[in-house]
Amino acid sequence: MQICKTFSEIRAVVGDWRRHDQAVVFVPTLGNLHEGHLQLVKLAAEHGDKVVVSIFVNALQFGKNEDYALYPRTLDADIEKLRGAGADALFCPSDREVYPNGVEEQTTVAVPTMTNILCGATRPGHFTGVTTIVSKLFNIVQPHKAVFGVKDFQQLAVVRRMVEDLCFPIEIIEAPVARADDGLALSSRNGYLNAAERALAPALYCALVAARDAIAAGERNYALLEARAQISLLEAGMRPDYFSVRAAKTLEPAAPGDHDLAILAAAYLGKTRLIDNVTISIP
Ligand code: PAF
Repeated sequence: MQICKTFSEIRAVVGDWRRHDQAVVFVPTLGNLHEGHLQLVKLAAEHGDKVVVSIFVNALQFGKNEDYALYPRTLDADIEKLRGAGADALFCPSDREVYPNGVEEQTTVAVPTMTNILCGATRPGHFTGVTTIVSKLFNIVQPHKAVFGVKDFQQLAVVRRMVEDLCFPIEIIEAPVARADDGLALSSRNGYLNAAERALAPALYCALVAARDAIAAGERNYALLEARAQISLLEAGMRPDYFSVRAAKTLEPAAPGDHDLAILAAAYLGKTRLIDNVTISIP
């Protein structure tokens, strides 16, 4: 696996592959890799000839009171995991390489819809931080395809919209949510949970599945389902941020005639904010 720290290094590597007609698939990450990330790498390998992974803890997408400083930086362990998963190149730039003029002066890329609701309501500016870094990484790495996990459902929808609006010639591939045996969606932030919190955490997925089962059984009173789920999360010891049934494509609140729905939730367990979602298509 080639390890590149500068734009010119990764461009030279990918440029060479592209000249030899090799399809390059990109997996952007914040690092602190777990099994869910390695599944993204494996999926990427199925969709092309060469896999590039990036590791960059992007200050621009963290709010002032969020966990940017705390976010685990585990580069050596990540490199070993990526070697095992068969990645061909790792791009792990410094802050100075990515933001030479400083984060405050960075030109930004903002998607005007879907970004101020759900996670965007609690984390103002988060999605602009994401679309700015993803567009920079796309321009630097110049892959043919890029893999994003469905776990970050809203992020995926926003990135798809950015790719469409800005005409990036990059195919977006969706990776299913990787889960622990008890249903908890794999996330680097699960590492913040103590043993008691970790035992409670699957309640988020249970609430989502209960709502999905109720819709499958014919329930169309989404406000009622949302209220019930919030109560179940409180009873499980969580502090719900949102629990919402949405139209999967637009992320607008679901209306009775909508067929493709996403049920999205975020909740705090202690200081840790967990997110998860499930989808359902109704005839
Ligand atoms: O989902 C993530 O890990 C990050 O938001 C991403 C896409 C790597 C951008 O920093």
